[in-house]
Amino acid sequence: MKILAIETSCDETGIALLEGRKNGEGPECTTIKAALLSQAKLHAEYGGVFPTLAKREHIKNLPALFREFENEAFDAVVVTAGPGLEPALWTGIEFAKTLAKERGVPLLPVNHMEGHIISSLAERMGDTSRIARVQFPVLALLVSGGHTEFVLMRDWFAYEMLGQTLDDAVGEAFDKVARMLGLPYPGGPEISRLATEARASQKAAHARLGSSQRKPERLSVSLPRPMLHANSCDVSFSGLKTAVLYALRDMGGAHTLSAEQVAAVAAEFEDAVAEVLLAKTRRALVESGAKTFVIGGGVAANRYLREELQKMVLDEFPDVEFRLPHLSITGDNAVMIGEAALAHLLLGDWALEPQDEIKAQGNLSLAKKVL
Ligand code: KG4
Ligand code: ZN
Repeated sequence: MKILAIETSCDETGIALLEGRKNGEGPECTTIKAALLSQAKLHAEYGGVFPTLAKREHIKNLPALFREFENEAFDAVVVTAGPGLEPALWTGIEFAKTLAKERGVPLLPVNHMEGHIISSLAERMGDTSRIARVQFPVLALLVSGGHTEFVLMRDWFAYEMLGQTLDDAVGEAFDKVARMLGLPYPGGPEISRLATEARASQKAAHARLGSSQRKPERLSVSLPRPMLHANSCDVSFSGLKTAVLYALRDMGGAHTLSAEQVAAVAAEFEDAVAEVLLAKTRRALVESGAKTFVIGGGVAANRYLREELQKMVLDEFPDVEFRLPHLSITGDNAVMIGEAALAHLLLGDWALEPQDEIKAQGNLSLAKKVL
């Protein structure tokens, strides 16, 4: 079974052609061709994604990217229906509708967050991924520019929301803090790079001066760990962002900081985020009794978060299998949309049939919060 997948929920335009087959152990997907165009550079001057610009770019990029796929045959077109920016989602849906009609194949809607979960669960060998040997329940921590949520999958495609952000998404906080520090968009990779440098130079200083030495006074910045002890799996990052703003003001304004000071703030911010996410993951793992843990979304590329989570799960939950996503699929792409659709189709949950009218749903949710 071959499908053409389209993703336009945010600032990446993605098209991918995948072939799926049933394997004894579970669905197997091969990416035959994948094309991805990031608009990040264009949005950089706005410090975040500008929906009208995203829409204009998707409209321009989709036919250009599709040229590579023109001579390919496929049995269905699948497209992200939400969540995401509605003007951006519509561009993909309209393009997919026209294409499916022209080719006389069904058009199926995919939930973007499910794409992150399924592609993170899949084991990757080159262009082939296999979604096999999954032990339920699966706990997914989804961290991106628009989402921060703990989703529990009790069985294939049965989702429950265990907790989520009460305000900003974690990627959004990375981007906003980066902006305050005068770093370019997207801020996550920049903050991560500086934080790694700051930790390395602090370690070197410790080695030189002895471990009793405290941080130099001018580099000491301490930020809160919001909701760390709250009795839920919810998180909040807006207060942390404001705390960075005040800390920068107290330090005399971001423009007065040395490169070393900027890196120290980046490291403290990343520490605070990781500490909160670690504590909430611990809580969610205990509460849910999950046997598998996955992370997905753009922020799942964060090296420090990956390492800290890996250490914690290995130390404290040795029976839980942690599936760390390959860095090639943490950011938005069409392969993950294709893999989610193929999982539904090959596990017999969906049929290749025409659907009702597909609409963009900016706030589409995998699951409602469990009360
Ligand atoms: O999933 P994604 O590509 O798009 C959305 O669906 O939002 O996530 C984008 C987000 C941005 O906020 C970006 O700053 C963040 O992921 N990000 C990172 C890293 N790489 C990307 N955040 C922290 N550390 C990173 N290494
Ligand atoms: Zn995403």
